Amino acid sequence: MRHRVVLRVDLATLSANYRAVCGVAAPCAVMPVLKANAYGLGVGPIARALVAAGAPRIAVAEPFEALRLQGLGVPVQILSAILPDEIEPMVEAGVTLPLTDLATARLISGEALRQGRTAVCHVALDTGMGRAGVLWQEAPDFLRAAAALPGLDIEGILTHFPLAYQGGSAFTREQLRRFRRVLAAAEALGLRFRWVHAANSDAINNAPEACRPPFNLVRCGINLHGAFDAAGALRVPLRPVLTLTARLAQVRTLPAGTPLGYGHTYRTPRPLRVGTVAAGYADGLPLALSNRGTVLIRGVAAPILGRLSMDYLTVSLEDVPEAVPGDPVTLLGRDGGLEIPVQDWANLKGTHAYDIICSIGTRVAREYV
Ligand SMILES: Cc1ncc(COP(=O)(O)O)c(C=O)c1O
Repeated sequence: MRHRVVLRVDLATLSANYRAVCGVAAPCAVMPVLKANAYGLGVGPIARALVAAGAPRIAVAEPFEALRLQGLGVPVQILSAILPDEIEPMVEAGVTLPLTDLATARLISGEALRQGRTAVCHVALDTGMGRAGVLWQEAPDFLRAAAALPGLDIEGILTHFPLAYQGGSAFTREQLRRFRRVLAAAEALGLRFRWVHAANSDAINNAPEACRPPFNLVRCGINLHGAFDAAGALRVPLRPVLTLTARLAQVRTLPAGTPLGYGHTYRTPRPLRVGTVAAGYADGLPLALSNRGTVLIRGVAAPILGRLSMDYLTVSLEDVPEAVPGDPVTLLGRDGGLEIPVQDWANLKGTHAYDIICSIGTRVAREYV
């Protein structure tokens, strides 16, 4: 028995995307960002493929994600913030931790001393993201105090961009200026960092200055999956890594005037051949596809009719009358000469690719090829 809905991840394309990002980001190294189970695609196979492709380290958001990546032979780093009760197990596991304020730095230092270990840390600098971290204006004082704490190896410093998806953002440039001022203040204190990083996928594409010295590392998530959020230039040649397929459950010819689905938002204008596809919003399909999206069956576009329900949606088979129950249905990806990219769903839903990928349902089978 097969799963009705399958998300197929092409690991060779993922690795090719990683290498393409490396090519554009050079001389910076590229750290994959695999938080939230690799944006919902499945962190285990993806992390192994990227380490095999040369990834020198991996970034995640929180401790359970970090623990899942132990044993890959590369450092694992929590990016933005750490909670007090997370410090003990993370120091014990040797996870690289963010320094967001002096109180947290003191807790990490104390825990490292207690365990007889050195905690490797990166200063998380807030140069304008407004989310977490040391305010850039307060960074010189913070660095002076943190550098004096025992048990810490402050090997890195990072910041994050809120507007890098815009090509040529003046605010992104201002953040880079702020970052450089902090680096100069650190230098004056005799502090040097092994890793200096700021760029995410958007900045790799739109802010080339964030891929040059003093930066020597970039953090890349969404581009690895062949998706992007860039309103500006797309410098990295990417290919989509995922295909989402379902299957046709029933085929019928309905009389003219038949209302379809919840809310009766569609009525057949004439006798119409329709198909019931076994996939719905529980599988992560946006409700916004209702009456607006299409699927691909036998290489032909079949428009979605009426409102999606939790487990099913209805499509017109007018242009693909030979379709039969059991036929594969491409929801995202390529079938013959046609392709439905993640971005199409993002546009219909009024969101970005991250939201679409992270929303793919838990009952969807993940396959890796
Ligand atoms: C701090 C930080 N760096 C890097 C990334 C990776 O971003 P992207 O997927 O746009 O490459 C994220 C993800 O949101 C992040 O929070």
